[in-house]
Amino acid sequence: MLAFITVRHTANGFWSMLNLKGLVRDGSREAHLLSQVDPQRLPRHIAVIMDGNGRWASQRHLPRVSGHRAGIDSVREIVEISARLGIEVLTLYAFSTENWKRPRTEVNTLMSLLKEYLQREVARLNENNIALLSMGRIEELASSVRQELDAACHRTASNTGMKLIIALNYSGRAELVDAFRDVLQSHPNLQPSSITEQLIEQHLYTRGLPDPDLLIRTSGEMRISNFLLWQIAYAEIYVTETLWPDFRREHLLEAILDFQKRERRFGAIIVNQT
Ligand code: FPP
Repeated sequence: MLAFITVRHTANGFWSMLNLKGLVRDGSREAHLLSQVDPQRLPRHIAVIMDGNGRWASQRHLPRVSGHRAGIDSVREIVEISARLGIEVLTLYAFSTENWKRPRTEVNTLMSLLKEYLQREVARLNENNIALLSMGRIEELASSVRQELDAACHRTASNTGMKLIIALNYSGRAELVDAFRDVLQSHPNLQPSSITEQLIEQHLYTRGLPDPDLLIRTSGEMRISNFLLWQIAYAEIYVTETLWPDFRREHLLEAILDFQKRERRFGAIIVNQT
C-alpha cells in the first residue's frame, strides 16, 4: 500500500514538473486521470484516426465542415498535452487518399483548415518544442498547401521534443507501394532473399521512428481505414464512441490509462517468474 502511494506521489510530482498544472486544472477530472498515469509506461508513439466530424455537425444541424472546424480545437488540445506528457511521436490521420472522393467543397474546406492550422500553430508548436512532419503523397497536394506545410515543417525542424506527423493524402497501401518502388530504385539488382522486414522498414514514410504503441479511433467504428498497415502490427487499439470534435485531454488520458492496463505480448507468452 505504501509503495502504491509513493509511486502516485512520484507521478504527481513528475507531471507538475512538466508544467502540466498550467494545462490541467487542479481538482478537475483531467487532474484525477493524470495522477493515475504512470510516466514510466507511456506509449512512445500514438496514432489517431480522427473520425466523427460529420456526425458531430449533423447532430447540431450544422454543415459537415463545421465538424472539421471544431475538430481543429481537438487537434490543438491533443497535440499540446501529448507533447507535455512526453509522447515521442503523435501521428494524426488528417486526409486519406480516399478522401478526394468527398464533395469538392468539403475537400477545399479541409485543405483551407489545414493551411489555417499551419499558419496559426507554428508559434505554439515552437513553444512546446514540437517538430512538425508530414507523410503521404504530399507531391499530389495543391502547391499552396505544400508551401504552408514546407514552411511549418522548416520553422519547427530544430525542435527536439515530440514529433507531430500529419498524414495527408495518405493510405497504408500506397505507402507500401511507394516503399517497394523505393527499394527497387535504391537496389536495382536485389535478390529475393535480400528482402527483409528491416529493408522494407527503411523505405517506409516512418523510417527511423518507433511503431505506434497505441492506435486511437474516435466515433466508434471498428476499422483501420488503410492507416499505417505495416506499422500497427503490434499496436494496442483503442476505439471510443466519442466523436473527434468532443475528444479532448481527458479522453486522451483515458486512452493512455486503458493502454497502461494492457499486457503487451508481441506474439510471445508471458513466463510466470514465481
Ligand atoms: C473524419 O470525419 C475526419 C476527417 C476526414 C478529417 C479530419 C480533419 C481535421 C480534424 C481537421 C484538419 C486536421 C489537422 C491536423 C489540422 P468524418 O468527416 O469522416 O466524420 P463522419 O464519419 O462522422 O462523417
